[in-house]
Amino acid sequence: MKIDSIRQEYKFSELSEKINTNPIKLFKKWLNEAIESEVAYPTAMSVSTFGTDGFPQSRIVLLKFFDKHGFVFFTHYNSEKGRSIYKNPAVGLHFFWPELERQVRISGIAEKTKTEVSEKYFLSRPESSQIGTWVSEQSKEIPSRKFLDNRFIELSKQFKNQVPPKPESWGGYLIKPEKIEFWQGRENRLHDRILFEKHDKIWEIKRLAP
Ligand SMILES: Cc1cc2nc3c(=O)[nH]c(=O)nc-3n(C[C@H](O)[C@H](O)[C@H](O)COP(=O)(O)O)c2cc1C
Repeated sequence: MKIDSIRQEYKFSELSEKINTNPIKLFKKWLNEAIESEVAYPTAMSVSTFGTDGFPQSRIVLLKFFDKHGFVFFTHYNSEKGRSIYKNPAVGLHFFWPELERQVRISGIAEKTKTEVSEKYFLSRPESSQIGTWVSEQSKEIPSRKFLDNRFIELSKQFKNQVPPKPESWGGYLIKPEKIEFWQGRENRLHDRILFEKHDKIWEIKRLAP
């Protein structure tokens, strides 16, 4: 397979800066369209941090909530990403919806969600996922697959007669956006790029060259 000959024309849609809307409303519209179009994992987003080793690091997580305050995902606070965010809370989020020829790029500052928010979400998860959260000390080296499976069996017994509580070290991050860029693929590589930047709580709109 010669991957350098793979070419794509982008004809699905267009995006104007005259939309003159709030970027959160536009994000909602685009996410809804991604869900309606049955894109695989429409809420999957890449989260980029300044890794503890100094290198940029990205990984996929699932967006669980968003509103004018920001974008929320849940994870282990002692994981690589959690430790990176503790050192430097500047985070990049990235959505790619190929079927709609769209990407959204967000820069923002991460802060932990309130315990009540994390607890409410934790309790809404299936019990097996709740136990899985206790099993995995995310990003730590483990001796084998068997170690993980055995821990799951042990903890399932331990929590047999009780709802597993939320581990202290697990919860949400709210990414408070400062920049949100919407990218819509267009013909002849002349894509639409509309950037919203927050200045004194007001979103300013710019068009960027593709
Ligand atoms: C589709 C998909 C969804 C994922 N969702 C989450 C998530 O919501 N939270 C999470 O902590 N990890 C999630 N992961 C796993 C992360 O990509 C990553 O492996 C894990 O969080 C450890 O990352 P870290 O070592 O950089 O902290 C998901 C992975 C995939 C492929």
